Amino acid sequence: MEQNQEKDVLMLAIETSCDETAASVVKNGRKVLSNVIFTQIALHTQYGGVVPEIASRKHIEKINQVIEEALTQADVTLSDITAIAVTYGPGLVGALLVGVAEAKAISFAAGIPLVGVHHISGHISANYIEHEELEPPFICLVASGGHSHLVAVKDYGVYEIIGRTRDDAAGEAFDKVARAIGLGYPGGPKIDKISAEGNPDAIPFPRAKVAESEYDFSFSGLKSAVLNYLNACRMKGESFSQADVAASFQKAVTDVLVEHSLHAVREFGYDKFAIAGGVASNSSLRAAFERECAKQKIAFYRPSPLLCTDNAAMIGAAGYYEYKKGVRSGYDLNAVPGLQL
Ligand code: KG4
Ligand code: ZN
Repeated sequence: MEQNQEKDVLMLAIETSCDETAASVVKNGRKVLSNVIFTQIALHTQYGGVVPEIASRKHIEKINQVIEEALTQADVTLSDITAIAVTYGPGLVGALLVGVAEAKAISFAAGIPLVGVHHISGHISANYIEHEELEPPFICLVASGGHSHLVAVKDYGVYEIIGRTRDDAAGEAFDKVARAIGLGYPGGPKIDKISAEGNPDAIPFPRAKVAESEYDFSFSGLKSAVLNYLNACRMKGESFSQADVAASFQKAVTDVLVEHSLHAVREFGYDKFAIAGGVASNSSLRAAFERECAKQKIAFYRPSPLLCTDNAAMIGAAGYYEYKKGVRSGYDLNAVPGLQL
């Protein structure tokens, strides 16, 4: 038998920060044995966005079933699990609480160590799952419904935020513009789809720069420009093309994200760049980064679309590196809706 052979770490991960009830079993931070996601999107669609109270109630209803399913699909039982990783922030407080309470209960009852995980650290770590060779340092763009961060990933779980949005998050802008042009919720995927039929150069929407910071983003001006364009059309009694507005908006967002991100990669002298978060599943954004990174000889990493939007496998990946560092959470672990990276 090999000396000093390290024992496999099997992580049961739980994610309930917004509107997906998710559980996953991840081996050694990189191998996903199961990834179960119960999405509540259909429930919230009729309200045009996530209703926090409904989200928490649904999490309570689904969490046990989702965890059991994750264990069954991974073909393991709780006695095989090394540690439990759970998202404790940022997110909706009532939604986070369901996952945190569940994780604490299982940890206590089964005597399994508990590791609290930052949701954004999870999004970034989704990149480790399908890219075995990826190791820090690298620059990561995190673009989700609540966050648009440019992050220098210095080591596993060691982050420096170098740029952030001054107003709306990228995903939030997608959702608001989708609503304004009558596509409804959830906006990102709908804009992505209809843009394929539109002309991205049809309307010259602004590419916002933030005066004092070369890495910060601002999307509220772009959102206003779209609303002004729609109003002008209505005043003139002209119709507008949903596909052209969507494609032109999407290109404006993509151009800014690509320019700022790759500028940061060059300035930091890194040769690796990754994307993460729900917006990272956008097909035109992925294609633009693919193209530009190839041109600039930067290695480009992106999770599969399913691992870009909220899931628990990414929490298992991030949780593994915390566990290896010796991080353990106590039974006083609480949901922290505004948790900083
Ligand atoms: O990461 P995520 O699932 O949840 C948060 O942590 O916020 O991100 C959700 C956001 C939503 O704003 C959604 O519209 C956006 O990601 N999104 C997309 C796409 N799929 C999801 N945005 C653009 N294109 C997509 N294909
Ligand atoms: Zn998220």
